[in-house]
Amino acid sequence: MKGFILGVIATLVVLYGGFYLTIKQGWFPIGADNPPGKMERKYANMAMDEYVDKHQPDGENPVEANSANLMEGAMVYEKHCALCHGGGKDRTSPMAHRFSPPVPQIIQRIPHDEDAHLWWVTKHGLRMTGMPSWDGVLSDDEMWKVIAFIKHSDKLPPDVQAMWQQAAQGPSTTNAVTPKTSQPATKK
Ligand code: HEC
Repeated sequence: MKGFILGVIATLVVLYGGFYLTIKQGWFPIGADNPPGKMERKYANMAMDEYVDKHQPDGENPVEANSANLMEGAMVYEKHCALCHGGGKDRTSPMAHRFSPPVPQIIQRIPHDEDAHLWWVTKHGLRMTGMPSWDGVLSDDEMWKVIAFIKHSDKLPPDVQAMWQQAAQGPSTTNAVTPKTSQPATKK
């Protein structure tokens, strides 16, 4: 029994020593241009799925997927999400692989998870990834709309599709309504 306990302690010391040495010696590649290893990916995904399943709200998306709501969702998406997740202009974002873990391109591959799962991730973000928490920046309602938009982005009503593409191509909507005769901006 004593030998067994000593064996366990020795193993723990070696494991901790290896871990400490890797970090202290600067062997752990910290740059975002290092993709996560298999183990890291497996356990991080498991932790995320289990945690979100436990904490996501019950029930369906409270927002109806009508044109008005989808349009609003599309505008929020283009403004805040497209840079990382790909949008109407660049369906694959140039930033997709500039993060570790890489950013899922959710317009190209719409996640199968329930709306409530995706909403929770949007509201709270995912630590140790590039996914921010949008709580306090977007309202809960806007987040439900953006999720409705993502889920319907491959089958949008024509008017929403047209408006999304227009918003994605052109300059920002505020510039579009600025009269051409306006004074040039003063130099800063
Ligand atoms: C700065 C980059 C960045 C921005 C901006 C961003 N995200 Fe993310 N997002 C990420 C990353 C990175 C992940 C992947 C995390 C992972 O692999 O676990 C992610 C994951 C997600 C997921 C989970 C996808 C899945 O398949 O489980 C959802 C949903 C999501 N983001 C929604 C949004 C929404 C909605 C917005 C805009 C309001 C947004 N994100 C803005 C970087 C970003």
